[in-house]
Amino acid sequence: MEVVDAVAREVGGHRVGVRLDQFDATAEEHALALHVVSRLSDRGVLYCHMIEPRVDGRRRVSRRLLPFREAFGGTFIASGGYGRDEGDAAVGEGYADLVAFGRLFLANPDLPRRFELGAPLNECDVATFYGAGAADPAVGYTDYPFFD
Ligand SMILES: Cc1cc2nc3c(=O)[nH]c(=O)nc-3n(C[C@H](O)[C@H](O)[C@H](O)COP(=O)(O)O)c2cc1C
Repeated sequence: MEVVDAVAREVGGHRVGVRLDQFDATAEEHALALHVVSRLSDRGVLYCHMIEPRVDGRRRVSRRLLPFREAFGGTFIASGGYGRDEGDAAVGEGYADLVAFGRLFLANPDLPRRFELGAPLNECDVATFYGAGAADPAVGYTDYPFFD
């Protein structure tokens, strides 16, 4: 909260966004995160971006960020395991204002266009995540092909 306040003082709370990871949270951590999200909301933070608990591959989990969504007055962004249709559904039913894509965007530099066209998606290569083992840090980050 001290960091959020310090940054908000410099640039305004309406320009501050926070990302919180609930990927592997215990019940206690969940309660703490809920408290944090409420305090962020009190401060008028622009967005709260959260990672779904226990994302398993591309399988969707069940709306477990809802308490955070309800506790936050600003723009709420959900992420973790979403595809196009799951993202549309989450936004459509008001579960999130926005949905973020990690691995799909990494592997598909033209992801919005592919979604628009219903085009096939490149698979991501786990072996090159975080630049693992590559001499060239671009490998795994900026070398996936665009849709032809
Ligand atoms: C190679 C790689 C690097 C990532 N780096 C970050 C990071 O720096 N900060 C962060 O908050 N999340 C990072 N993430 C997590 C993603 O933002 C995202 O939460 C995660 O991949 C789950 O979403 P997805 O199922 O759409 O991929 C990274 C993920 C991958 C695969």
